Amino acid sequence: MPSRKLFVANWKMNPVSHDEARKLFLASRKVSDKFTKVEVVLCPPAVFLGRLGDLARKSKRLSLGAQDVFWESEGSFTGELSPIMFQDLGARYAIVGHSERRALGETDEVVNRKILACLRAGLQTILCVGEKIRDSEAEYLGFVRGQLQVALNKVLRTDLPSLVIAYEPVWAIGKNSSGAITSRDLHVMSIFLRKTLSEIYDRASAEQVRLLYGGSVSPENVAALVSEGEVDGLLVGRESRKPESLPAIFEALS
Ligand code: PGA
Repeated sequence: MPSRKLFVANWKMNPVSHDEARKLFLASRKVSDKFTKVEVVLCPPAVFLGRLGDLARKSKRLSLGAQDVFWESEGSFTGELSPIMFQDLGARYAIVGHSERRALGETDEVVNRKILACLRAGLQTILCVGEKIRDSEAEYLGFVRGQLQVALNKVLRTDLPSLVIAYEPVWAIGKNSSGAITSRDLHVMSIFLRKTLSEIYDRASAEQVRLLYGGSVSPENVAALVSEGEVDGLLVGRESRKPESLPAIFEALS
């Protein structure tokens, strides 16, 4: 398993101007420069990626990612942006299948096409999975397994070093720090995800996939989630846009 932990910042549809995005980028980079053991990926709104890409190229450990992509490389798809375009702008990563995209109608099949397109373009691909609710019969486990099985259709063993799985239970996103999953439940889920990947591929291949947790990560809960959750990193929304929260998060990941 890779030794350096991964931190992915999902800025979502924030901030609203390039100036603010630049400020947030520079503040995040300043903190990340102090934590050499953490790999940092910032995912700003796509419109800011070009100019931030020029700044990111100067940094060795910090890179940029897309929040979503289209599944074709080019063509008559008004308003869409392809993985190749993101590559060209300097992005190294792409998030696919975030629950906020799925809430707008994205199916597992669409997620699968996007994953394949990102891998073809040579992007590190972050596949988001996670249940909407937890039931006492643990049917959510089957739900998450199903998301993985469909999303990874035609994804080869040899692609796995470029794949990251972000487990983001929908019920835990956008809450305060006590709304996150417990570190104990995260530990169980991490084992389940690795086991499912081992069933789809094999154990050694499954070990190459980095596993992230996302959902209300904060300076208060981060240490327990990282130390007990058995994850290789975090996908963080709200707190990733607060530079003052980053030291505690990076410290936990170091
Ligand atoms: P949150 O968002 O950290 O604000 O809960 C996480 C996400 O949606 O990726």
